[in-house]
Amino acid sequence: ARLYDYLIVGAGLFGAVFARQAFQSGKKCLVIDKRPHKGGNIYCEDIDGLRVHKYGAHIFHTSQKEIWNYVNRFVEFNRFTNSPLAYYKGKLYNLPFNMNTFNRLWGVVSPEEARIKIEEQRRKYASLPEPANLEEQALKLCGEDIYQILIKGYTEKQWGRSANELPAFIIKRIPFRFTYDNNYFNDEYQGIPKGGYNLLIEGLLKDIEVKLNTDYFENRSYFDHLADKIVFTGCLDEFFNYECGPLEYRSLRFEHEQLEIVDFQGNAVVNYTEREVPYTRIIEHKHFEFGQQPFTIITREYPKAFAAGDEPYYPVNDSLNTAKVKKYKEKAAQFPHLLLGGRLAQYAYFDMDDTVEAALDLARRESLF
Ligand code: FDA
Repeated sequence: ARLYDYLIVGAGLFGAVFARQAFQSGKKCLVIDKRPHKGGNIYCEDIDGLRVHKYGAHIFHTSQKEIWNYVNRFVEFNRFTNSPLAYYKGKLYNLPFNMNTFNRLWGVVSPEEARIKIEEQRRKYASLPEPANLEEQALKLCGEDIYQILIKGYTEKQWGRSANELPAFIIKRIPFRFTYDNNYFNDEYQGIPKGGYNLLIEGLLKDIEVKLNTDYFENRSYFDHLADKIVFTGCLDEFFNYECGPLEYRSLRFEHEQLEIVDFQGNAVVNYTEREVPYTRIIEHKHFEFGQQPFTIITREYPKAFAAGDEPYYPVNDSLNTAKVKKYKEKAAQFPHLLLGGRLAQYAYFDMDDTVEAALDLARRESLF
C-alpha cells in the first residue's frame, strides 16, 4: 500500500477544500505547494496587521447558501460590500452603472430621465449594422458618453489593443441599474474573512500535512508513487509537458506601495479608465477590513501580456486554447488515479465560490462525505 490516499498538488482554495473533505473522511493526505505559503492566489501578506492581497483583490461573493455556510464554518465574514469607483480626468463615477453614475454624467435625477438619456445616446448608433468590433458594439449598447469615459480606455489597457481592433463578442451586454445602489455584485452573500483569507485556509488545512516550497515537477517520479490518487491543481499543459502546445494566459503586474498616511482613496477599489494612466486599478487594502492603521498600503494593477515565468492569471478562452484543453483532458481521462481540479488544471475562470463548489463536487464523486 502507498503512504497516502491522496497527494494534493496545490495548497490553494481548491486543494484546501478537497483536503479537508478527504481528511474528515479518514483519508491520509499530503498537500504540496511550490510557493513558500499556503492559500494560492487568495493568500494575503500581513504587514503590521494590514493584510495585503498579494495576487489581486479578492472579494468573496456567492448566491449559494450551502457554499456560504461551508466557508463560514471555518471563518467569520465581515460586511464588506464591493462598490468600486471609476476615476476619469479628475472625476469619480460609481460602478456598476447605476443612478449615481447617470446623475454624475448627465445630472439626471429620476430613473425615467436616465432611461430617456441612455436611449438618446444609443439612438445615434442604432442603425449600425452588425457591430464589426468592440467599439461599435459598446457604442450600440450604451452610446458615446459611457463608452468614452468608462469603457474605452479601461478595456484597451486590459487587452493591450485598441477597441476597434478587438472582437465585438467581448462585450455581450452592458448591465444598467436604475436604482441608487452601488453594490457591485448581485449575489445574496458577500464579505471578506474577519482576520483575512489566511484564516480560511488555515481552518481548511488544520491538522493536514502540508509541504511548502515543494514543486511536484521537480520530483515527479517520487510523488507519483507516494499516493493512490493525485489531485492536481497546477497548470494543465505543464502536467502533460506541453505535448499539445502551451495554453495562453493573460497576466498582471502588481506594484505595492506603503504610504505614511491614514487614507489614500477612501475606497477599496478605484478603476482608472483613462488610457493615458498606465494602470487599470488601485486597490487600498485596509478598506476590505475597515482597517484603522495609521498607515496604508496601495497596489497599482497593470495588465500584462503573459511571458514564460509570469503568474498565469486569466485563461484566454478562444477556440485555439479551447481545442488544446480538450486534447489535454482526453489524455487526463486515461489516468484513473489522476484528478484535475481548480482554475489552472481546468483552465477556467473560477470565482472562489465556484472553486469551493467544484472541490466539494469532486469530493462527493470520491465519496468523501
Ligand atoms: P490557485 O492558483 O489559488 O492555487 C493553485 C496552487 O497550486 C498554487 O498555490 C500554486 O503554487 C500551486 N501549484 C501549481 N503548480 C504546482 C506544482 N507544480 N507543484 C506544487 N504546487 C503547484 N474570486 C472571487 O470570488 N472574488 C474575487 O474578487 C476574485 N478576484 C481575483 C483576482 C485575480 C487577479 C484573480 C487571478 C482571481 C480572482 N479570483 C476571485 C479567483 C480566485 O483567485 C480563484 O477562484 C481561486 O484562487 C482558485 O483557487 P485554486 O486552488 O484553483 O488555484
